[in-house]
Amino acid sequence: MTALVGRTPLVRLRRVVRGAPAAVLVKVEAANPAGSSKDRAALSMVRAAEASGALAPGGVIFEGSSGNTGIALAMIGAALGYRVVVVVPDRSSQEKLALLRAYGAEVVVTPALLPAEHPDQVRALAARLAAETPGGWYAGQYDNPANVDAHYSTTGPEIWAQTEGRVTHLVAGIGTGGTLTGAGRYLREVSGDRVQVVGADPESSVFGGGSGRPHLVEATGRFVHPQTRADVWPRSFDPAVTTGMRRVPDRAAIMTTRALAREEGLLVGASGGLAVAAAVALAHTLGPDDVVVAVAPDSGRSYLSKYFDDEWVSQRGFGPDGGPAPAVAPASETIAHTTTVEQARVALGQGHALPVVLRQADQGEPVAVAQIIGSVSLDGLRAAAPEELVADHLGPALPLAGAHEPVSAVRERLAQAHDAVVVTHDGLVVAVLPVSELDSRAEVIGDLVP
Ligand SMILES: Cc1ncc(COP(=O)(O)O)c(C=O)c1O
Repeated sequence: MTALVGRTPLVRLRRVVRGAPAAVLVKVEAANPAGSSKDRAALSMVRAAEASGALAPGGVIFEGSSGNTGIALAMIGAALGYRVVVVVPDRSSQEKLALLRAYGAEVVVTPALLPAEHPDQVRALAARLAAETPGGWYAGQYDNPANVDAHYSTTGPEIWAQTEGRVTHLVAGIGTGGTLTGAGRYLREVSGDRVQVVGADPESSVFGGGSGRPHLVEATGRFVHPQTRADVWPRSFDPAVTTGMRRVPDRAAIMTTRALAREEGLLVGASGGLAVAAAVALAHTLGPDDVVVAVAPDSGRSYLSKYFDDEWVSQRGFGPDGGPAPAVAPASETIAHTTTVEQARVALGQGHALPVVLRQADQGEPVAVAQIIGSVSLDGLRAAAPEELVADHLGPALPLAGAHEPVSAVRERLAQAHDAVVVTHDGLVVAVLPVSELDSRAEVIGDLVP
């Protein structure tokens, strides 16, 4: 299987470019054997560890990853005969865990919402388990130079060869930064610094100067947990390699992801849609001799129940048109998961069940749908001790309804059990409405927001 890693196709976009003068090509990394660009990084890291002696026959591979890197290491481990242990956050999809187990990897589940310094945080736990296990080796893609090397020695040269040296711009999202740094460094070197290297970043990601609030596009960009003391960027990302950044709202990334499937027959994940959205915007500023290459790291198959699901998209407030700017969610309707029961009682007063929100230090901002981790009922709070954390009494997340959605459609969708609904617009929380208020004669949900 390792022989199948890399040499992925480059596809020219015809319709999604919307008449841009420059060509936009997509590097389709889903063509790798375990389905993503991470196959390259995983193979490179394992080979480097074998060469240095850090990983020996009979050794055990450890990684903390909710997605593609774990799956890639599981595939490589199976192919090369190593045990693989992947530590995953507890919010990972069942499909991803099933895929890891299908390749024979062992899965260790840990809470998703821990600050970087916590010993059980995904990556910290993986590193610790590796250190405690005889023959254990921690891959550590965020800081492992072999991750960057994979893209310097394969992705970059492939793009150069496939475009016959005509590439002028590389656009990719930044998770570890390995792809952009490695392929970007190669392309700059080989072109005598002619190729521009552009990071495509979710609007709220700190890489591009955003607030660090969570975003909906998985696996790229950087959000900062409110309790993280020092936000240390991955060593795999070298900002000096980039010549520019383009910040892309979740809405544009998701709509581009959907358009790629429908208008080009290209089923990629939203980090690919993010890169293409940035690449197309860039291509509109360029000329007919320019060639923009966007990297699509994985397949849309892993996201059928998210970005490709009409209800999922609509419930997060992404209507057919942008609509007016959202109002800021009133602070009393969302509470940070770090709040104590006593603080919450004071803040909430009386009312319905309320969503508990993982809120960033900057509270002046609207709360994003991606920040919601669940709800807590007033009954639950009454039974709890005052000094306990609200997060320890977490119930299921409340249903979501886009402000643009017809009231009748939302009412039909809601099960009897729900007391309240979270109103969204463009990925942000606008308000929390009691379900009883959905009975009014308003047409769309947004009309009910005070
Ligand atoms: C789906 C997807 N997109 C993008 C990325 C980012 O790639 P990189 O880590 O090379 O920056 C990753 C990996 O983190 C990924 O899994």
